[in-house]
Formats: sequence, structure tokens, C-alpha cells
Amino acid sequence: MKEVSKKGNHRNSERFSTGIGVLMATLGSAVGLGNIWKFPYLTGSNGGAAFLIVYIICTILVGFPILVAEHMLGRKGRGDAVSTFENVAPKSAWWVIGASGILAAFLIMAFYTEVAGWVFAYVFKSFGSGLLSTDPEVTSSIFASLVSNPVQSLIWQWIVLAVVGAIIMLGVAKGIEGTTKRLLPILALLLIIIGIRSITLPGAGQGLSFLFKPDFSKITAPVILTAMGLAFFKLSIGMGCMLTYGSYYSEDQNIPKNAARVVAADLTVSILAGIAIFPAVFSFGFEPAAGTQLLFITIPSVFASMPLGGVFMVAFFLLTAFAAIGAMISLVEVVVAFLVNRTKLGRKKSTLITVVSMAVVGSLAALSNSTMANVTVFGKTFFDLYDYVSSNILLPVGGLMIAIFATWVWGWPRFKEALSNNGALANEGVLKAVYNILKFVSPVLVAIILLTGLNIVHI
Ligand code: TRP
Repeated sequence: MKEVSKKGNHRNSERFSTGIGVLMATLGSAVGLGNIWKFPYLTGSNGGAAFLIVYIICTILVGFPILVAEHMLGRKGRGDAVSTFENVAPKSAWWVIGASGILAAFLIMAFYTEVAGWVFAYVFKSFGSGLLSTDPEVTSSIFASLVSNPVQSLIWQWIVLAVVGAIIMLGVAKGIEGTTKRLLPILALLLIIIGIRSITLPGAGQGLSFLFKPDFSKITAPVILTAMGLAFFKLSIGMGCMLTYGSYYSEDQNIPKNAARVVAADLTVSILAGIAIFPAVFSFGFEPAAGTQLLFITIPSVFASMPLGGVFMVAFFLLTAFAAIGAMISLVEVVVAFLVNRTKLGRKKSTLITVVSMAVVGSLAALSNSTMANVTVFGKTFFDLYDYVSSNILLPVGGLMIAIFATWVWGWPRFKEALSNNGALANEGVLKAVYNILKFVSPVLVAIILLTGLNIVHI
């Protein structure tokens, strides 16, 4: 529902209903393929434990404060990614953050829907017996036959978009809360079961050392940028997504506390995914730096070595598909909320236009392991390019601007008022710390990491 206030601004009037609903809905956006697919693959390709440490530091010093700022501004502005800035900073250019966020939503969805398509396809493959193998060659060739088939790649991606589009058309609160609420705890439990199997495999210790014993010689400026990009991607920040969610928060929600829980739960799921995967990687002789395919080639080997593996594998890919859907809903919602507020299209048409455009942009990513494998820009396929530009450039730049806005422009008095719920919460000490980090630490870190990681400045 939209509501145009007397001042003529675009403000929404929908709210998340309950406290636990807020936490779960926000987690529904944060937890997704980022935890299950991207985190393990990047950790594997960037040297393991040292990458994990840099990633955690970025999450605490950059991710958490920006998440808090987005929820705060979203609740104040009560609009979509663009209108929120127009509401909290009228007659200024800050709305550009929201506009860049809409671009980011397209780029992220373009590759995200492809990976989600692989997950959907694996749900079906899990019903057969062929996938259950501990032989790297077998699992790799099954994956290769899927991604090198252009028709299958496109169709799975479109199925994903159709499913997400249909859910969005049902409406914000119901669509988002309903799908994600119940499933996350089950996913976490399943990851624990898989993790236990994985760490009891012969030779598993090597995988645990890889994940938890840092070798700091692996750390370079581009690796740090990748870790920071992952921190943004994981928490769905830097592009107006959490801003849009903040606009559904009620006035009495404790934003910093909720954000801390989101960060903790999200990190836990990622680390559980790492524990499920890396011991098996070393036990069966997979390559930790296998890249985007890591999840899909290694996880079947864990299932192949446990009782009822086939059943667990169906459940695993199904739950991963649900987690991915929750995250995609939040991405599509950024664009749809904007269109609903700004045009006369209405929710259904806005959703349709959005997902169809995403299918067009996304098809270039879907085909980048087959028909378009040799088409590269800056040496990257479209799949990699979309991922790189969104995670390593657009999100950090957006986050940097949000940090600057929330502190240097918005300022302490309003920050304190908004996040203490007008003084109802006795959390001034915490707020002061978050504020100072957001004002002095996060922007400087983001700027340095961006400039060095993109090779603009050398130190
Ligand atoms: N955080 C989600 C994941 O890890 C992906 C996601 C959803 C996202 N919304 C976003 C990433 C907004 C960046 C921005 O899977």
C-alpha cells in the first residue's frame, strides 16, 4: 500500500507485525546464496582462514554500523530506496544512492538468479542417484553438463524469476515474512548435521585448518576488497535494500539490537556452511579454489558418505532454494517498491516489468558458461563482471555514502534520537560507539580498501 502524505512525499504504511517477524524477515534478506555458495567459494579461492578473519573485521567495523544506519534512515524516511533520501534530505542529491541501488539490484539479480537456477536444478538432480558420488570427476562433470547447456541455464533462471515474481505479487508483509520465517532454523539445523558428517570424515582436520588457521601471506589489497565486498553483499547493504526493510520497521523496534542479532546469525550460517564444505574438500581431494562451482561439486560428496544421503541432499538444496528466494525477494522489492511509489503501474505490473527486465540482463550471465563464455569485458565474463561491479564497487560506494550521510550530514542528535526511539531505550553508550565508528572508521576503511583494491592507489 502506498500513501502519499500531505507534504506530497511517497511514504509507505506497511509494517512488520511482530518482533520476531522483523528479525526473521531481515534475516530472510541477509541469509541466502551469499552464505551457502559465495562465502565458501570466496574463502576457498582467497586462501581460507586469513580471508575469513578480514571478512569478519569488515563485517564488524563496516557492515554492522551501515546496517544500523540503513534501518534508521529507512524507518525515518519510510519510502523506497530513492524516496527515503528525498524524505530525510529534501532538495539534495542524496537520492542518487538509491538510484545506484536500483542498478545494483539488477546486476546482482542477473547472476544471483543463475546460481539459484543451479540450486533449483540440483533439487531435481538430487532425486536421481547419479549425483551421490565422492569422486571429484563425477560431480564436476554433472555440474559442467548443466552450466554448459545454454537452454537449461536460461530456463532455470527464468523459472527462478517467475517464482520470485509470483511471491512478490502477493504483497510485502505476507510474501516476505511468510516464506522465510519458518525455514531458516531448519536450514541451520541441517547445516549442523552436514557439518558433523564432514568433520568426522578421514583427513577432515586439514579442512578445518584451512578454514581456521590463518596464513596472512595470502592477504593482498584485492583480497581485502573481495572480503569487504562480501561483507556488504552478505548483509544486503549499500544499495537501499535494508533501507527499504527499515521502512517497514515499527517505531518501537530496537534497531541496533536487531541488527546485532542479524549479523551474528548471518555469520553463524556462513561458518556452518564452511564447516560443512571444507573438511569434505580436503578429505575427498577436491580443489578449495574451484571457484563458483565449489558448493555444487563438493557437497554431494558429503551426502554420498552419509546414511540417507539422498534424502538429506534433496532437503539441503530445497532449503537453500528457499533461502535464496528470501534474499531475491528483497532485491526485487527494491525495484518494485520504487516503481509502485513513482508510477501508476501498480504492484502487479511493476513486478512483471521488473522480473522481465531482470531476465534480459540476467541472460547474459546465464549464458556465460556456454554460448557467451568467450565474450568478456575487462577480462571477465558477464557473470563475473556483474558480481564484481556490484559487490566490489557499487555496494561499497553506496555504503560509504550512507555512512557519511548518517553521521556528517544527519548528525549525532538525530542519530541518537532515532536509534534510542526518542529516548525510550537506554542505549546511549552503544549508540555513541556505533556513531563514532560509522563516522570515522567505516568511511576511511571503505575508501582505503576501495582505492587500493581497485588499484587506483598503491601503498
Ligand atoms: N544477502 C543476500 C545473500 O547473502 C543477497 C542479497 C539480498 C543482497 N539482498 C541484497 C546483496 C542486497 C546485496 C544487496 O545471499
